[in-house]
Amino acid sequence: MSKEKKIYLSPPHMSGKEKELVQEAIDSNWIAPLGPNVDGFEKELCDYTGAKHIAALSSGTASLHLALILAGVKSEDVVICQSLTFSASANPIVYQGAYPVFVDSESYTWNMCPEQLENAIFACLKGELKINKKNIEPKKPKAIIAVHLYGMPAKMDEINAVAEKYDIPVIEDAAEALGSVYKGNKAGNLGKMSILSFNGNKIITTSGGGALLSEDKTLIDKAKFLSTQARDPAPYYLHTNIGYNYRMSNILAAIGRGQLEMIDEKITKRRNNYESYKSKLENIDGITFLDEPEGFFSNRWLTTILVDPEKSKGISRENIISALEKENIESRPVWKPMHTQPIFEKYPFFGTEVSDNIFDKGLCLPSGTELEEKDIEHISNIIKSLFL
Ligand SMILES: Cc1ncc(COP(=O)(O)O)c(C=O)c1O
Repeated sequence: MSKEKKIYLSPPHMSGKEKELVQEAIDSNWIAPLGPNVDGFEKELCDYTGAKHIAALSSGTASLHLALILAGVKSEDVVICQSLTFSASANPIVYQGAYPVFVDSESYTWNMCPEQLENAIFACLKGELKINKKNIEPKKPKAIIAVHLYGMPAKMDEINAVAEKYDIPVIEDAAEALGSVYKGNKAGNLGKMSILSFNGNKIITTSGGGALLSEDKTLIDKAKFLSTQARDPAPYYLHTNIGYNYRMSNILAAIGRGQLEMIDEKITKRRNNYESYKSKLENIDGITFLDEPEGFFSNRWLTTILVDPEKSKGISRENIISALEKENIESRPVWKPMHTQPIFEKYPFFGTEVSDNIFDKGLCLPSGTELEEKDIEHISNIIKSLFL
């Protein structure tokens, strides 16, 4: 195996159709953040996810930011967020001047623990929160951000039940989970509002892009209005709201349409990656895989494993990362929980050590759709050799 060809974690993979669609957009001079590809991509995403309404936007982060604005999140409000996630889930809370309150994961899906969610809501309502040693007055959280990490759906029935009990909207961060299914419903369709990401590393990409989805047409109409600079209907530029430049470009939507055509193949490939790694590595003491609970279907965006040095005669995740790196293969620790990030440490956290433990032991393996079986064999052999 050549060391020259680097194996990346999750590189973009073009289907071939994208070039034709981009060329068409250029030929027809639709180069704006609107146009037939944006409309087409939106319709195709609704058909695919089952969501009723959608706005294609410039990124998943922009989509989360608009979701919070639409949920009415303002300065000094509280927003509850899953701790084990990428920082983009939490950053928009701070853009709004609001306070993130982080909630631990449960070990079945690695996503938001419904019991800890309720503990966090209770503490907010009772005025038990402290930020920088300062008491926060009793208040109802304005939103809950639940994530489907690495494609594995969160326990949405339980999370939605807690949210409904206290009448708090759930924003479903499905950035990593296009094509995942929870009890018969596709991700992107499981909260009051949902977001997707089409960043370069995601299961489908527009190079950079995202979408906001909802059952509620008024929310999506407002998102389209705010994301195109909040221009009021008038013969001149009239503004009664602060606007954003968050709409997706017609060129990028062309790439997205080409990508979406291949979504089923991409999911099959990512799931086969997981099965292939599992068949080769699951018998090693100290390595475990996250299986799908009954009713959960993961797109297996990234194959992740836990490496427990106490059960593996001392071999750790770091040993695997450096052995793979020597062979020009990229692997990465799972996300570092937000409550342990220097920028977020001052905010409250509700939980035990579930997400800390996942972070200590968790490793993401190369999971791209162009990965060949011989690559997985090679990667698995490098890992196996450490345990001999
Ligand atoms: C869980 C999660 N949320 C949000 C985002 C933000 O999406 P984007 O990169 O499109 O802004 C990402 C990925 O980048 C993500 O992994």
